[in-house]
Amino acid sequence: MRIIVVGKEGQVARALAERARAHGAQVVLVGRPKLDLADPSGIEDALIETGGDVIVNAAAYTAVDQAESDPELAEAINGIGAGVVAGAATAMNVPVIHLSTDYVFDGTSDRPYREDDPVSPLGAYGASKLLGEEAVAAEAENHVILRTAWVYSPFGKNFVKTMLRLAADREELGVVGDQYGSPTSALDIADGIFAVSRNLLEKPEDRGLRGLFHMTGTGFASWAEFATEIFALSARFGGPSAKVRPIATADYPTPARRPANSRLDCRKLKEAHEVVLPPWRSSLEPCVKRLIEEARKEVAR
Ligand SMILES: NC(=O)c1ccc[n+]([C@@H]2O[C@H](COP(=O)([O-])OP(=O)(O)OC[C@H]3O[C@@H](n4cnc5c(N)ncnc54)[C@H](OP(=O)(O)O)[C@@H]3O)[C@@H](O)[C@H]2O)c1
Repeated sequence: MRIIVVGKEGQVARALAERARAHGAQVVLVGRPKLDLADPSGIEDALIETGGDVIVNAAAYTAVDQAESDPELAEAINGIGAGVVAGAATAMNVPVIHLSTDYVFDGTSDRPYREDDPVSPLGAYGASKLLGEEAVAAEAENHVILRTAWVYSPFGKNFVKTMLRLAADREELGVVGDQYGSPTSALDIADGIFAVSRNLLEKPEDRGLRGLFHMTGTGFASWAEFATEIFALSARFGGPSAKVRPIATADYPTPARRPANSRLDCRKLKEAHEVVLPPWRSSLEPCVKRLIEEARKEVAR
């Protein structure tokens, strides 16, 4: 199985590259400058030239707050560009797996969101990702859209790395305590994507395997609870830790509004693909351990 991954340095792209061997798969990463989602003209040629059995689009404009002041670029990359990648998959006669987000919802529901719940993004990033979902579905019948949330990993920028960095020189941190979601390891997402890819290739006619699915870590937490667990693990492994003071969203104003409830109901993915991501705490542990070990090696160098 040769998988073309759009995105080179992103969390999910790097996780797919790292996990490929364990799944007996080959991953080829394609990104800028060869493939720029903001420049549709070269996308199809770059993908055809690369060649593969499945295309995974793990690239996106992910700067949620910045998107508020540059909605056109977010729309070009997350909306139009995503559609062009899906169109190329159709031209190549291969399935496309596209990643989307919990931020397509406004977070007012009091239960985990299902795939067919009404969408209503609160900000420009969520709106651009929704446009991408629509474009992918329009351009490729043979598609899977995976909405995920609160992604962290040993790679790139994410909440876990930010918390560990801040704890290095602060004793106490105010962290939002009234937004709930499911912390999701990019390495677990990668494992899920390999399983889904295999299913799509093994059953090319099975419509139940195609469409929109939710895929997050199992269980949920507030950002403050997530931070508390990060610091408990970090302390255990001899890393930095801080006291967490839960604060209200209203006390931490950001350019983009975020959903209070980001929880996604992942039962459809389990039923169709037999994929369930592990409990979020069990995946967090090896990530924190690895980050602390890597930081220690860096200091020793
Ligand atoms: N992070 C989260 O918490 C979260 C939550 C829900 C959903 N998601 C979705 O999950 C997917 C993966 O997210 P992630 O956290 O892995 O993202 P990430 O770490 O921010 O990486 C984004 C990737 O997109 C690439 N990219 C950005 N603009 C591009 C362009 N114009 N052309 C080509 N590549 C471009 C970046 O390339 P460079 O390496 O060249 O910069 C980078 O590799 C995205 O679809 C995201 O919307 C993420």
